[in-house]
Amino acid sequence: MQRRRVLVIGSLNIDLVVHTPRVPLEGETILANSFHRFFGGKGANQAVAVSRQGIETIMAGRVGQDDFGHDQMKRLAEEGINTDYLVMDEEQPSGIASILVDETGNNRIMVVPGANGQVSLRDIEALEPVMAECACVAIQLEIPLPAVLAAIRSANRQGAKVVLNPAPAQALPLDIYPHITVITPNESEAKLLTGVEVTDVPSARKAAQILLDRGVLAVLITLGSQGVYGLTLADEFHLPAHQVKVVDTVAAGDTFTGALAALIGSGRSLVEAARYANAAAALSVTRHGAQPSIPKAEEVLAFLGQ
Ligand code: ATP
Ligand code: RIB
Repeated sequence: MQRRRVLVIGSLNIDLVVHTPRVPLEGETILANSFHRFFGGKGANQAVAVSRQGIETIMAGRVGQDDFGHDQMKRLAEEGINTDYLVMDEEQPSGIASILVDETGNNRIMVVPGANGQVSLRDIEALEPVMAECACVAIQLEIPLPAVLAAIRSANRQGAKVVLNPAPAQALPLDIYPHITVITPNESEAKLLTGVEVTDVPSARKAAQILLDRGVLAVLITLGSQGVYGLTLADEFHLPAHQVKVVDTVAAGDTFTGALAALIGSGRSLVEAARYANAAAALSVTRHGAQPSIPKAEEVLAFLGQ
């Protein structure tokens, strides 16, 4: 039977977002423009991004036994995402992210992991049968590293393609790279992983080559307003960013990785998936919030057809 489902293993947060004319200096108080609460968390955002492309999606992770946790469960279920593998943690509250967005659309994020920090090796073990039915498993670094590493190894063993979004940036053991199908760092994550200062296509190529040499099958470095750079053993490409009016880049990276996982899960080539994800992410930066900004397949296809 052909596998088409995508499993996302990762974090769920409630994003507490302040839009500010500028970031205050130390000791300074300023008046900001607005406050909003959004559903976020890199894992949940990526699950929503997969699901909105019309792909059957399962989200695994932990929330607290609190209002935020119940809200998260309900929201994902409304989105059509399978929440059978979301655990309500008995000790920790739901994760939150305190986010500042300035008038250029750039953001600064502080995450308090709460229940996300409780994702355990046992949780990952319980997912093995699900992984065996999935075309693709998408993972980020907002849950404990031992769980991430176990999830990568299990997914690989179960024959699923593994998409790793190494965010927030964290060093990884060298022996994990051969188990990763596609890695999607942004510029600063690529720098932390390789030591190469990534600012443009030539420096992205240098960093990507290092990751490829470590055994990853494909590297996609997202370059913000410069688009995305891709490298495999057989191919190299740069897709420039679409020209759009940026209002808020929160979850641009998640939209990219989620849309990519959706297309890879449905059997598209890396470059096709990257082209589609580049368009989905461009649409996301034109809208406020994490999950509210993630486009559906119809919107992405219409945008690509323009
Ligand atoms: P964030 O942390 O803000 O969610 P990120 O740092 O993980 O994002 P970026 O490399 O900034 O990831 O952006 C991811 C993708 O989003 C880019 O590869 C591109 O496709 C799209 N994107 C980001 N910024 C812009 C922009 N200014 N214009 C068009 N597309 C953009
Ligand atoms: O990538 C964006 C996400 O990072 C936000 O939704 C926030 O919750 C943090 O996890």
